[in-house]
Amino acid sequence: MRFEAGRKLLRSSIQALAVAFLTGPVLAQGGAAPREWQTPPAGDVMKGQALYMARCTACHAVDSHKIGPAHRGVMGRRVGSLKGYKYSEEMAQSRLRWTPQTLNAWLQDPEDLVAGQRMGFQVDDAQERADLIAWLATLK
Ligand code: HEC
Repeated sequence: MRFEAGRKLLRSSIQALAVAFLTGPVLAQGGAAPREWQTPPAGDVMKGQALYMARCTACHAVDSHKIGPAHRGVMGRRVGSLKGYKYSEEMAQSRLRWTPQTLNAWLQDPEDLVAGQRMGFQVDDAQERADLIAWLATLK
């Protein structure tokens, strides 16, 4: 009897260890599943420029800070890193870099990419995001 109980205990602690081992890396990320980055389809620069002028320039300009930061050189830059613009704490502390994938996630849902950020604007259409990203990539 004693032996049986001991074996049961041993088996359940091995199971508990296995569960802790398997879920550990996930819990370390706050329980969220790892993100699957989406590469946007090819974009049309001219359409992207027109979309930018229509949708983004209320808050952004290419070469100066407005409500949002200037965009020249954004592709490849660290998120929230441009001097002279006061980002939200969350953006400034983000360790991401702007790539077609991170820009796509940002434009689709900024809050989902960087919780606590301050850009209250999103672009629902995937092709429009791709066009905007193609345009942003030309701003070197
Ligand atoms: C209502 C104002 C507003 C509009 C419209 C807007 N943005 Fe923003 N954007 C912001 C603000 C504010 C930030 C800074 C967020 C922060 O610091 O939390 C920002 C940040 C960004 C950043 C991060 C830049 C960096 O230096 O890290 C990108 C990229 C961006 N916006 C792209 C766009 C694009 C493209 C559009 C148009 C489709 C757009 N935004 C429309 C307000 C806006």
